[in-house]
Amino acid sequence: MKKSFASKFWAATTLLAFSAVISGLSCIPTNAATASNANLISQGKSLTSQFGCTGCHGSDLKGKMGPSITASGILKTYNKTTFERAMNVGLNPKGGPLQPPMPTFHMPKPKADAVYAYLKSIK
Ligand code: HEC
Repeated sequence: MKKSFASKFWAATTLLAFSAVISGLSCIPTNAATASNANLISQGKSLTSQFGCTGCHGSDLKGKMGPSITASGILKTYNKTTFERAMNVGLNPKGGPLQPPMPTFHMPKPKADAVYAYLKSIK
């Protein structure tokens, strides 16, 4: 029996939708891998002024009232995980408390990662 136009149409549409989903899925890891580091760094840079880090650590973040928090400064004692913890919980890499007036923030991981990438990029 000859297939109706409608059934061919839906078969084709389903196939198209399916391949769109598959190619969409396969894009996710690729995009994540190629998500440019430059983008992350520039996002991190604006976050350091939004969060006010520059006010205490200097506009170049190399130290003012607070210490230098760049790659050559205190940041070398941190990794991404301990940095995120410091921002949100106020602990240094050894688990000791950060001293006031260093505040804690509400800094979700993507933001903490961007700030970390930016600080890491400042030698
Ligand atoms: C109100 C001033 C102030 C602000 C705002 C501030 N800091 Fe600090 N920060 C300090 C002071 C003072 C210290 C030194 C205290 C200490 O070492 O325990 C410090 C310490 C640090 C340290 C080092 C802690 C250690 O291991 O000794 C890091 C990292 C840091 N700040 C990052 C940041 C970041 C990133 C921001 C913005 C998101 C920020 N700070 C905002 C004042 C500030």
